[in-house]
Amino acid sequence: MNAVEIAKDTYWIGCVDYDHHDFHGYSQSPEGTTYNAYFIRDEKNTLIDTVSIGKSNTMLCRLAHVIEPAKIDYLVVNHVEQDHAGCLPEIIAACKPEKIFCSTMALKSMEGHFGKQMQDWPVVAVKSGESISLGKHTLVFQETRMLHWPDSMVTYCPETKILFSQDAFGQNIASSERYADEWEHGDLVHRVKEYYFNIVLPYSPQVLKALPVVGSLDIEMIAPDHGLIWRGSMCKEIVDLYRTMAEQKPRKRAVIVYDTMWSSTERLAYAVCSGLEENGVPATLLSAKKNHHSAIMTALADASALAVGSPTHNNGVLPYIMSALTYIKGLRPKILVGGAFGSYGWSGESPKILQQYLTDMNIEMPAEPVRVQWRPKHEDLIKAHQLGKSMAEALKAKCQD
Ligand code: FEO
Repeated sequence: MNAVEIAKDTYWIGCVDYDHHDFHGYSQSPEGTTYNAYFIRDEKNTLIDTVSIGKSNTMLCRLAHVIEPAKIDYLVVNHVEQDHAGCLPEIIAACKPEKIFCSTMALKSMEGHFGKQMQDWPVVAVKSGESISLGKHTLVFQETRMLHWPDSMVTYCPETKILFSQDAFGQNIASSERYADEWEHGDLVHRVKEYYFNIVLPYSPQVLKALPVVGSLDIEMIAPDHGLIWRGSMCKEIVDLYRTMAEQKPRKRAVIVYDTMWSSTERLAYAVCSGLEENGVPATLLSAKKNHHSAIMTALADASALAVGSPTHNNGVLPYIMSALTYIKGLRPKILVGGAFGSYGWSGESPKILQQYLTDMNIEMPAEPVRVQWRPKHEDLIKAHQLGKSMAEALKAKCQD
């Protein structure tokens, strides 16, 4: 396994993992992910980040193509989550770095993860703005707390104009390609949105604080710890896309999520969908049973309205719906307008529960929930259509703000 030279004396030595499909509930795109790690050849030979638990052999194999691991002098740990730092004990044992640089918060995280294992590790905690010289290269550290963990920082090299951005600007793509401009563009944007809305979204305020710092740097390459590397004009493109995603300005589009027992709630969902689209708000309709909650979150990247439907089941809501709602709530998307609906046989609690759940998420509910006993009749479908229309009008009013 070779290293890939991404700039003079700077190499990608990461690991493509075709088998990892779940990050804390985020089930990413089908083929897996990539853990990126980098090596800079200089008077002080330096590693930037490592790879996941059990993948150290791949990284060391790539590294050995360009340098003996024992000749490594420095190791930079931008982020301690285990997909990047899980193999630290093996890498440190093989490379025996003279110094390991990380943020102050990362030092605490490392102690929590590695305990006595790290008692002899030569860790140096650095602060924002601190820099080190490797010889011909300089590395400048910038803390980015909560992007993605409290320990996170990014590392900038002014000589090569590369920003090593750890989780930020990443995508879960497993491939032979190394650069974003080698990937089909529409799918690339989709993967970025998928990653952002399933991982980074709750930390959007921190993103908006970090982007001006990134924007002040002279950058020719953004090298994240997941997926493809951004180079040339695509660096500005990904920064602009991050700003758009973090701002979450009103989007004139809706998502309808439903589950159904015997198709009654499904028929209502289609009627709500018609009510939205026939009143100027395009909608995406997703069965919670057939679509993972990660796909629902990705759909919300382009939407500011959410209608949720479930039949009443054991005096409550069907479990796929509650699973999706729990996940969505935790990621805190800006949903401006909501709606609730569902069929029932005898007790009929579900639409009210959904209405309250969405209200508790600070979503404006422009109409009462639509409740339909047994099979929807024509007038019931008109009510569901009217719910879609009410949502469309409320959302369009907010999009004009
Ligand atoms: Fe890719 Fe927060 O770890």
